[in-house]
Amino acid sequence: MASSSQSLEQEIESLRQKIRHHEYLYYVLDHPEISDREFDQLMRQLKDLEAEHPALIIPDSPTQRVGGKPREGFVKIPHSSPMLSLDNTYNEEELRAWERRVHELSGRKDIDYVCELKLDGMSLALIYEDGKLVRGITRGDGSVGEEVTLNVRTVRSIPLSIDPGQRKAAGMPSAFEVRGELLMPTAAFQKLNAEREREGLTPFANPRNFTAGTVRQLDASVTAQRRLDFFPYILLTKGRSYFDHHWKTLDALKQAGFKVNPNRELAHSMEEVWAFIREWEGKRDSLEYEIDGIVVKVDRTALQAELGFTGKAPRWAIAYKYAARAGITKLEDIRVQVGRTGKLTPVALLAPVLIGGTTVRNATLHNLDEIERLGVKIGDWVQVERGGDVIPKVVKVIADKDRPRGHKSFHMPETCPVCGTQVVRTAGEVDYRCVNANCPAKLRETILHFASRGIMNIDGMGEALVTQLMDHGLVKDVADIYQLTKKDLLGLERFADKSAQNILHEIERSKKLPLERVIYGLGIRFVGERTAQFLAEYFGSMKELEQASTELLQEVNEVGPRIAHSIAEFFSIGANRKLLQRLQDAGLTMSGRKTKRGTKLAGKTFVLTGTLAHFTRDEARKMIEDAGGKVTGSVSKKTDWVIAGDDAGSKLDKAKELGIRVIDENALEKLLR
Ligand code: IVH
Repeated sequence: MASSSQSLEQEIESLRQKIRHHEYLYYVLDHPEISDREFDQLMRQLKDLEAEHPALIIPDSPTQRVGGKPREGFVKIPHSSPMLSLDNTYNEEELRAWERRVHELSGRKDIDYVCELKLDGMSLALIYEDGKLVRGITRGDGSVGEEVTLNVRTVRSIPLSIDPGQRKAAGMPSAFEVRGELLMPTAAFQKLNAEREREGLTPFANPRNFTAGTVRQLDASVTAQRRLDFFPYILLTKGRSYFDHHWKTLDALKQAGFKVNPNRELAHSMEEVWAFIREWEGKRDSLEYEIDGIVVKVDRTALQAELGFTGKAPRWAIAYKYAARAGITKLEDIRVQVGRTGKLTPVALLAPVLIGGTTVRNATLHNLDEIERLGVKIGDWVQVERGGDVIPKVVKVIADKDRPRGHKSFHMPETCPVCGTQVVRTAGEVDYRCVNANCPAKLRETILHFASRGIMNIDGMGEALVTQLMDHGLVKDVADIYQLTKKDLLGLERFADKSAQNILHEIERSKKLPLERVIYGLGIRFVGERTAQFLAEYFGSMKELEQASTELLQEVNEVGPRIAHSIAEFFSIGANRKLLQRLQDAGLTMSGRKTKRGTKLAGKTFVLTGTLAHFTRDEARKMIEDAGGKVTGSVSKKTDWVIAGDDAGSKLDKAKELGIRVIDENALEKLLR
């Protein structure tokens, strides 16, 4: 018996080792050796084994990256030694002045420097004990940070545990602290931000802010969905450097399984440092993430200690900052754009200017508050920056004798520039909105959203085509797409037989896409890809979703009052219900995979309340539904049973008041048997 359980343990552990190895190849080295599918199979195998033997689950198992319930807030934790920032230099002369100071203070000139990329993310401390990740802490104010362990555990390039053999080979201790930069690759940033916009949420200005917003999610499963990356650059024990050379530190971290940035160099002179700086200034656009400069560090740690620090920055390191890719140009006008949710965004129309290889003609001014903060007027000369941001932005007004100020102030229009409806600014909100549900600008954005990749995926139905279709009065809402004929398309500019055929084919194909895509495509405020998926799984059909009360909607995973209200509001509008009917008539998928349901609890209605000991609420709901029962969010005369866990609140009182049967989860299990 004992030996068989040991071999099971061994089997599970070797499976974990295998998965860790492939995670390392994929997330750290960017060099997978097996397909995603094979990887998923290994993971599934491990999950199944762990589900059968929950006693054998360990915290650093690859299955345990996400776990636990959303927290109430973050705990503050002091750092082992202050997390410093860096002094900046902006030209060669300033860099040379820094070098001179290093020479003077150390009394020597033969100094090696390590050059690293200055990654534009946020710094993070990771504490490992006994080779296992135990805590992740944000920089905070440098002395005290916030504990974000559950979030950082979801970052795949951060090892949850270090292989003891590898650790020893790397010469690393078993208890240590790693500091480095957490960041979001530019492509992931752009994709996620576009999704946010589609969902009617305010987009993040740049990947750095998005990273900070992501790691501070109270619900770590949200962090897990957004791909973050971590590059370490400091190793400490008891708040001090561990190795005698920084270069050695980076190599050891790499050997231990961390994703050390490969773009680094050990320079034996300031000439070599300068060459590295110049080299990367030209190559920065080729990286998958943003950098804003180069960090130069004295290699020998004894010398670092000798040099010490001033205020909040070390004397042994310096940042060389690249100029933000900026340009100066004239702001010729301000146009107001109306988004899918009706939000009015002022956009600067600029005299074309070349910034970092791209011609920039528009820049965002965000909102009226921002225009007031900048004090910008039409006709001003402005500085425009292009960072990792989605659209360039106006950063300041230039006023000197060669560049006179403009005179015309901008006013937010009182009516929508597209449909003429009165514009509304809700008290306490920054944004102005057009509230006309039929505003053509909103419709246009809604149609583009519906047809876009990842939703109904109608290839070819981009801005140009949608504008034409609307101008010709052929499409007024998403259902009209499905009435288009070849004749309609041939009447448009640049449409020949073949291209018309292609679009019709794409439209036809979209009808087969699953229910969750249709739900997502409707553009209901706050309903993104993931929520749409949960809704489709829960309700199984558009009809059931349409009829759901706000209480029932809140039974769905991750749906709170705000989202529930938005969904219910959408379906309460007659025009929207008609639209859905037309989509159904056109042959779109309006129901999902019907899970095979039992009949044991057919026709019975349950309400779940309090914390259950053996299952999550979702699991209990699924069990009831699989047996043909129904779970609702509030207790009424129609409720047959209330399943009460610990700390059951008002629903329990209501059940007692109405004389409804209240049972615990054991009794529920009996009902299901
Ligand atoms: S070393 C005492 N190395 O830049 C050493 N920092 O402007 C301090 N950063 O707070 C950090 N890339 O968030 C170091 N290769 C790198 C870096 C880097 C980015 C960030 C870090 C720091 C900030 C200071």
